[in-house]
Amino acid sequence: MARTKIVAGNWKMYTLPAEAQALAGAVASFTGGSLSPEVVVCPPFTSLVAAIAAVKSSAVKVGGQNMYWEDEGAFTGEVSGKMLLTLGCSHVILGHSERRQYFFETDFSVNSKLKKALSLGMTPIVCVGETLDQREANQTEQVVRTQIEGCYDGLTAEQAERTVVAYEPVWAIGTGKTASPAQAEEVHSFIRGLLRKKFGNTAEGIRILYGGSVKPDNARELFSQLNIDGGLVGGASLKAESFNKIIEAAR
Ligand code: PGA
Repeated sequence: MARTKIVAGNWKMYTLPAEAQALAGAVASFTGGSLSPEVVVCPPFTSLVAAIAAVKSSAVKVGGQNMYWEDEGAFTGEVSGKMLLTLGCSHVILGHSERRQYFFETDFSVNSKLKKALSLGMTPIVCVGETLDQREANQTEQVVRTQIEGCYDGLTAEQAERTVVAYEPVWAIGTGKTASPAQAEEVHSFIRGLLRKKFGNTAEGIRILYGGSVKPDNARELFSQLNIDGGLVGGASLKAESFNKIIEAAR
């Protein structure tokens, strides 16, 4: 099954609105109306409005980096999926390893957010991946299996097909250490196998992105692997020049 590649930029806690506008604008000029790969930028909440305005006449989509699963309520400090959607976000990153590590996000909370995002018609990008200790203890498959099972619990195949997985080995995030294309492909293929067990043939249509030090010079080889359907890019998404090269590598 042909899967349209996705290149998503995770801007983390970087960019003020004016910077977001310039960066998103430069990505939008480069992308134009092209739908392949799908291009998504995920600015911090306070820069969403500026980024959304900047990509308006292009095919670039905008996503949040997190959301809460209730539409509204007494949840100080939280932003709901409905709020993101209403602003113009089509995507949302869920369960990023930094959220798991610093903000105690669990597979259970990711699962609740995932179900809410899907009910709103948004595209969730669900992050999984092992730490260095876990990889060295040969626990990669076990860790990823637990995360996929927890995050995807109770979903139908039709719902699962509307999600995107991002495999991000924690040891490769922001470290300059990329998983080799073969190392990444091994886990991507394992993840697709897990999804096949849960959702049957629908798994062939689910995009699985690689994340962790994706750069212009390693993107093409990573994206050419059978089960790597694009990338979730952190550091290299903060400069239009490098992000646009990564988009080019996915074409
Ligand atoms: P990185 O981050 O590309 O800077 O390694 C990826 C991510 O955290 O999504």
